Amino acid sequence: MARILITSAIPYINGIKHLGNLVGSQLPADLFARFNRAMGHEVMFICATDEHGTPAELAAAKAGKPVEDYCAEMHQVQADIAQGFRLSFDHFGRSSSQRNHRLTQHFAGKLAENGLIAEVSEKQVFSIDDNRFLPDRYITGTCPNCGYESARGDQCENCTKQLDPTDLINPRSSISGSTNLEVRETKHLYLKQRALKDKLEAWINSKTDWPILTTSIAKKWLNDGDGLQDRGITRDLYWGIPVKKGDQPWPGMEGKVFYVWFDAPIEYIAGTAEWADANGHDDAAWERWWRTDKGASDVTYYQFMGKDNVPFHTLSFPATILGSGEPWKLVDYLKSFNYLNYDGGQFSTSQGRGVFMDQALSILPADYWRWWLLSHAPESSDSEFTWENFQTSVNKDLADVLGNLVSRVTKFAVSKFGNEVPAGGSFGPLETALIADLGARIADYTRFMQDMEVRKAASELRAIWVIGNEYLQAAAPWSVVKTDPEQAQAIVRLALNLIRVYAILSAPFIPDAAATMMKAVGSDDWAWPSDIHAAMRTLAPGHAFEVPENLFRKITDEERADWQAKFSGVRT
Ligand code: 2FM
Ligand code: ZN
Repeated sequence: MARILITSAIPYINGIKHLGNLVGSQLPADLFARFNRAMGHEVMFICATDEHGTPAELAAAKAGKPVEDYCAEMHQVQADIAQGFRLSFDHFGRSSSQRNHRLTQHFAGKLAENGLIAEVSEKQVFSIDDNRFLPDRYITGTCPNCGYESARGDQCENCTKQLDPTDLINPRSSISGSTNLEVRETKHLYLKQRALKDKLEAWINSKTDWPILTTSIAKKWLNDGDGLQDRGITRDLYWGIPVKKGDQPWPGMEGKVFYVWFDAPIEYIAGTAEWADANGHDDAAWERWWRTDKGASDVTYYQFMGKDNVPFHTLSFPATILGSGEPWKLVDYLKSFNYLNYDGGQFSTSQGRGVFMDQALSILPADYWRWWLLSHAPESSDSEFTWENFQTSVNKDLADVLGNLVSRVTKFAVSKFGNEVPAGGSFGPLETALIADLGARIADYTRFMQDMEVRKAASELRAIWVIGNEYLQAAAPWSVVKTDPEQAQAIVRLALNLIRVYAILSAPFIPDAAATMMKAVGSDDWAWPSDIHAAMRTLAPGHAFEVPENLFRKITDEERADWQAKFSGVRT
């Protein structure tokens, strides 16, 4: 039994995520977690909400709520939606937890001890009326390029020009509207990533089995332009983790917090500690996943994320870990994804474009989405969601192929032989051929799942469903029963066992349908069918089963058109 640690990039707290976010991190991570549990491995699967930074402060202000309350509410909203999608986290933590405060401060203290932190003075806009420094997004003014009057300090939304706050004409505070602003000196901490470049490079070069997408991004940032930059890890904000050196104050850094991208990945570790706390375990229980001196040397650690997150996970977070000089676990395999586009454009949170997780669940249950998204995961290139494609996949793969097989077999079996697995006949050439084919395909499927080849795994699973249907078509028990009822019993016996095997193989993709299938065949034996000959005989003659409710319904042309129209606009 192996020990598998899995983390998904932690979604920002502000707002509900769209399907593109889901398929790029949480969903494939869940697929992999479910598969590894099914293989009998010990799995720790952690995700959380990413709660700090300006976007959280701004969203809370817009909602008219204290940022603490806003984050607590939105965390619950995201946790409920994750449950709706059957994301099987062992813990869904919060980057604002006390565990993360302590660990983030601990790492900063260690980095300082090791001479890897520089204190740098810089100039920043201060609002006298608000009595605070204003980060870029908190400053509004007229764009010097196009004259747009509500340009933000980092970028003009109208002409997309990248700006510095000092470029703005008539700058004002986005908080109070005050123009009573001045430029002041402020001190910030920088992580000396440059000093860790050789270590990082050696580590990245040692990862010869990583996807090309991951290593190409890592190497680009390692070597592009001036190469790896030292990075500011503090901000003049209210909401965040107070800057401290371990549990000691940090002179000159009073009132400042760590930058959100410094504390967010540390939450992977803190989230595991939160899991231990929530389940009444001691520190040893989470440390055995993260500290190589405390049992984690036999853990294999997998991260899942969209490509925009790769630089932070291949350079910044490893710099924190390596720079601490302590024996923390580094990622072993980093699976990254391209983007999912939406109906001829991009999914966009800021523009409210696309289908968001709560909206998706309001029209169809999780399995429909999980199947489409995973079988179209943007692995080797960007991929696109269209309603036509969604309708076709659901109707064909789920309703016609899988759903239909389950209902045909169980209904036929009950009507001819009652609700127990029939005993007659024996497996002939058709059955032997199917079993051999299944054995080979399950071996391929298992390998694709182990390798996190999500699309290949999905298409192998689909092929496994298809050969079951083809077998049934060829074996034609509904004809055979008229001339050779004994043989028809053997066919039905095999087909009922096939449903159980399908439940096990399909569960990582479509857990609810899998549970329905397993319940219908009256079993709770989820052992992976590595020995297909045994697996096809697990449900013995006399074993009771029932006809399940319909597994999947079809999407009508009318519904498709309705949804397409409904989700063509902008979410407000
Ligand atoms: O891109 C995002 O949604 C970020 N909140 C991901 C953070 S991942 C990690 F560092 F925790
Ligand atoms: Zn402009």
